Amino acid sequence: MRRLNIYSLLVLFCAVLPSLHAEEGYKLWLRYDQVGDAQKLKAYSQIIKSYFVEGNSPTHGVISHELNVALQGLLGKTLPASQSVQAGSLLVTLASSPLLSPLNVGEKLKSAGDEGFVIFTSTLQGKKVIIISANKTPGLLYGTFHFLKLIQTQQDISNVSITSAPKLKIRILNHWDNLDRTVERGFAGFSLWDWHKLPDYLDPRYIDYARANASVGINGTVLTNVNANALILREDYLKKVAAMADLFRPYGIKVYLTARFSAPIEAGGLKTADPLDTEVQQWWKNKAAEIYKLIPDFGGFLVKANSEGQPGPQNYGRSHAEGANMLADAVKPFGGIVMWRAFVYDNNVPEDRAKQAYSEFKPLDGTFRDNVMVQVKNGPIDFQPREPFHPLFGAMPKTPLMMEFQITQEYLGFATHLVFLPSLFKEVLDTDTYAKDKNCTVAKIVDGSIDNHALTGMAGVANIGNDRNWTGHHFGQANWYGFARLAWDHSLTPEQIADEWVRMTFSNNADVVAPLKNMLLTSHEAVVNYMTPLGLHHIMGYNHHYGPGPWINKGRPDWTSVYYHKADSAGIGFNRTSTGSKALDQYADPVKKQMESITTCPEKYLLWFHHLPWTYKTKSGRILWDEICYSYNEGVDAVRVMQKNWNSVEGKVDAERFKMVKDFLAIQEKEAVWWRDACLSYFQSYSKLPIPSGLDKPPYSLEYYQKLSFPYAPGIRPQW
Ligand code: GCU
Repeated sequence: MRRLNIYSLLVLFCAVLPSLHAEEGYKLWLRYDQVGDAQKLKAYSQIIKSYFVEGNSPTHGVISHELNVALQGLLGKTLPASQSVQAGSLLVTLASSPLLSPLNVGEKLKSAGDEGFVIFTSTLQGKKVIIISANKTPGLLYGTFHFLKLIQTQQDISNVSITSAPKLKIRILNHWDNLDRTVERGFAGFSLWDWHKLPDYLDPRYIDYARANASVGINGTVLTNVNANALILREDYLKKVAAMADLFRPYGIKVYLTARFSAPIEAGGLKTADPLDTEVQQWWKNKAAEIYKLIPDFGGFLVKANSEGQPGPQNYGRSHAEGANMLADAVKPFGGIVMWRAFVYDNNVPEDRAKQAYSEFKPLDGTFRDNVMVQVKNGPIDFQPREPFHPLFGAMPKTPLMMEFQITQEYLGFATHLVFLPSLFKEVLDTDTYAKDKNCTVAKIVDGSIDNHALTGMAGVANIGNDRNWTGHHFGQANWYGFARLAWDHSLTPEQIADEWVRMTFSNNADVVAPLKNMLLTSHEAVVNYMTPLGLHHIMGYNHHYGPGPWINKGRPDWTSVYYHKADSAGIGFNRTSTGSKALDQYADPVKKQMESITTCPEKYLLWFHHLPWTYKTKSGRILWDEICYSYNEGVDAVRVMQKNWNSVEGKVDAERFKMVKDFLAIQEKEAVWWRDACLSYFQSYSKLPIPSGLDKPPYSLEYYQKLSFPYAPGIRPQW
């Protein structure tokens, strides 16, 4: 064989180079591939001939740039950017523009607020045009992305008429990112924020991050971990934060920081952080003034206090309200807010952990300043694959409650399991709290419509890292997308969200859309079944939370698994009824009644609320033990169906993403089997009942599963 010289090696290298970078998933749902359907492509090209963005703020610049790139990609040709109305113009302008005066656009935007928009077909100066308009500039940005989505998903735009406004005011990502770039519960690499090089080097990726968020209406980002480091409040770090705020501003995104409660001691050299101490109060006021000088539109603080070892007002005998109000007073003159987390539980485990946040916060209702929101996790324990809604929703009518969802999959298989979280989010949002009467869903509590709150919001703990595809799993992008879509409009269905996302991210081809939607929409139930069916919860590996660990019985009781499943020879489940921990007393009567009775308690919550004998007859007619076995198997089977669906799109999606998702699904299948076998082996040691015939038996002994160890599982700060 002829030996390759340097030149031919170079040629070879350059030939493979493009394919190395061919498809990394970096572009998320903003791919803007040319419209594949020739007829539609022709129709779009006939309707939009040029675009006219009237105005010259930085946000207008962002809009022009996006239209330029997107229309070129989607339509396969460069459209002229014009400065006047022409036949076939896409006109982007504020409602106050004199150009629109004949159209009474203000009327259409009456209830659209500062961020809503209209998109409509109209005739202007005798020419047929499409108009994107809004009361304020951010609305133009959101309207533009919405319009582009219509083409990305191949909708008919011959006669558009759309009005949209966000149902929530604050739509925010919480990054649990540490200053050393590790990400707590992050499974997609290291933090995007390169603190060491900031503010002098601004990674272009920050812009892509902002673009992606703006495209789905996210308007805030908390840059730092809730387990906070006071260093972020030091001047040099604040300058780094300011540089990011400057970059994000044109995209409608405000930055927020986590505030370590003891910062006056650590960063300010004071002797105390007591919120009633005047020196402490002044320190925070000065700090706020310093921040706002650098970042005039700084959003405010997110605080985790007196929780899992974090400092807080209770260290000084003060209440959560006293702590929150002190910070609220400091940011109030500048228009800032405080998001105070309700994720608290006592180190001494005095009562059922599921009850503690309510016991702590409910009595404080009405005592928080009007710029405080209490941020409540969706369920009373901790982002489990399935939880009933948190009893605080509906229980604090005088306080705006912010929803906290976890997008990163701490308890749902990390970044290698495909789980479509909008199904989980929607299940919670749609649940009726019966707080006042019926039809007081969690969503309506959160959007302020039940108790008349103007300050409303939803936070999502981000699943983003510096992996090229942002979220580790290509399908993890759907959860970032879906969280944001629900924060904008919680009435959307998982089906609608899945449809949009698949079309934008993979293909509009029906042979792709159908199987991918099927995968997404069955995935949440699948993971619940192979991890924690029938209301089981918190039975994962210790600390890193990777894999099954129902046997965990050492350490803090409420960090063990046995505390939650309470399996013994008689049965399994946590009795939270009136004969047990009485956690149900924290819910409104109709909810309490429904859950209290085993005949009306939905089986998906059975073992969350009840301790039942292994031989209890479930609705299927099977005894509980058999039902548990079947449920675990259903979970595994569902993953195998997902694999079949995915295999059916081979050749219809790009080879790179196809391969990665296929490999990840194989991991998911392997781990679903592992969860099933490990959990059934363990529970069988109590039930002493056989695995029903026809179902797979665990191939290894219980000891085998118990001995598996993963000291370097991702998501926790490595001990180098
Ligand atoms: C979970 C998670 C922690 C996190 C905490 C929180 O317990 O495991 O890593 O800090 O939630 O929400 O504060």
